Amino acid sequence: MSNTAGKYDFGMIGLGTMGRNLLLNMGDHGVAGAGYDKDASKGQLLEEEDKNGNLKGFSDVNEFVGSLKSPRAIMMLVPAGKIVDSVIEDLLPLLDKGDILIDGGNSHFTDTDRRVAYLETKGFHFFGMGVSGGEEGARRGPSMMPGGDKEAYNVMKPILEAIAAKVDGVPCVTYIGPGASGHFVKMVHNGIEYGLMQLISETYEVMKKGLQMDDEAIGKIFTQWNEGRLQSFLMEITSDIFQYKEQGSDQLLLDNIKDEARAKGTGKWTSQVAMDLESPIPTIDAAVEMRDLSKYKALRVQLSQIYSVNDAPLSVDRDSFLVELEQAFYFTMIMSYAQGMHLLSKASSEYKYGLHLAEIAKIWRGGCIIRSGFLNEIFTAYEKDNNLQHLLLDEGVQKLTVENVPGIRSVLSKAITAGIAMPAYAASLGYFDNLRNKQMPSNLIQAQRDYFGAHTYELIGKEGVFHTKWGEKSISIKGSGVKEKQ
Ligand code: 6PG
Repeated sequence: MSNTAGKYDFGMIGLGTMGRNLLLNMGDHGVAGAGYDKDASKGQLLEEEDKNGNLKGFSDVNEFVGSLKSPRAIMMLVPAGKIVDSVIEDLLPLLDKGDILIDGGNSHFTDTDRRVAYLETKGFHFFGMGVSGGEEGARRGPSMMPGGDKEAYNVMKPILEAIAAKVDGVPCVTYIGPGASGHFVKMVHNGIEYGLMQLISETYEVMKKGLQMDDEAIGKIFTQWNEGRLQSFLMEITSDIFQYKEQGSDQLLLDNIKDEARAKGTGKWTSQVAMDLESPIPTIDAAVEMRDLSKYKALRVQLSQIYSVNDAPLSVDRDSFLVELEQAFYFTMIMSYAQGMHLLSKASSEYKYGLHLAEIAKIWRGGCIIRSGFLNEIFTAYEKDNNLQHLLLDEGVQKLTVENVPGIRSVLSKAITAGIAMPAYAASLGYFDNLRNKQMPSNLIQAQRDYFGAHTYELIGKEGVFHTKWGEKSISIKGSGVKEKQ
């Protein structure tokens, strides 16, 4: 593609890290691209970094829109929320019916739903697309999750396939489904990302406090694990973090970073939606909660003085414990992905997304933040059966789960005894133990609800709902304390 007659094939609004790098990536693939940012220095930086002479930066929106071939294809990569709406409003008067707009940011899926409907009434093509991979991914090959207007996606498909990460030559982009499904899937991707990050942090904690290992030794374990079945992008960057010292310093930068984690909200959204859909994701919930808890630094310091911590190391053989810890991490990693995939299948039927979970696992194998060796197992499981109700039902995953259960039980019991917090590990095991529990204690909850609120209960082997006057002991003793609710 080229900018014949001075016209560009594609336009990018927002030349921050993601927008600029994605456009540079397109430029590398021969796309003639125009970039717009109010801040003229961003457009200049784009042109400086463009080694192919395919890209041009604009700081005037009229000139930018006028430079594009018709029908225009424009992607917005701006912060999620109101800014997206105001960019759309500024742009609409300058566009023609039939032009394509793409939101490549981390928009909330309900905002995308609203924009899909709005832009359709105005005669524009619009699709929301999750883009994962951070700066490096955007520049060298991200994983992309486009959903919405399929016709518009098909116009963009050759460009998106060209710039996407490739795994065995297969591009990490696929049409996800209708409406806001692309942004929904990206949100769940981020939820899994939160879960895995928290699990890695808890692994660091138990090595540091329980085994009293120094940074170098901890870093070596992460490096070693990344070379085995735990291979993943997040493990790889963690291994790098444990080697990074600033020039002139003999200390890891990590040791000078405040222990208060920030968040932009996608993990919280995943937990909120999971609650709405009644699809439990406790590992991810724990990850969101622990980021929040970390922000109460002053309170934590105060309480640490009141409730003193036993700083003695775990009385374990270090090497055997590390073998168990590797198994335990593998187990919790399975649970994180399993929860995310289950949430996707629930959302797919609830919102009629018609998701192909194998395709989603396939495009997550490269380019994105949660890429890992294990995604191949997930891909294989859903390729065998796209309607698999839960990942833990797959035979291959079943084997991997069972063989790692002893590891997590042993690690958690020792950590809990020593007062080392591993809430995402614990949530993962609790999730598993209750999913495989054919008789949960929820009958008691039903009885309590009926006792104080006459909320009724259902009985084994009997149709209908029932209510008991629980305080009237004589009735219960006679065994006739149930009656049909009126
Ligand atoms: C990705 C990342 C990206 C972003 C996160 C950070 O897939 O490339 O998920 O979208 O880095 O949203 O999220 P927090 O700031 O909430 O940690």
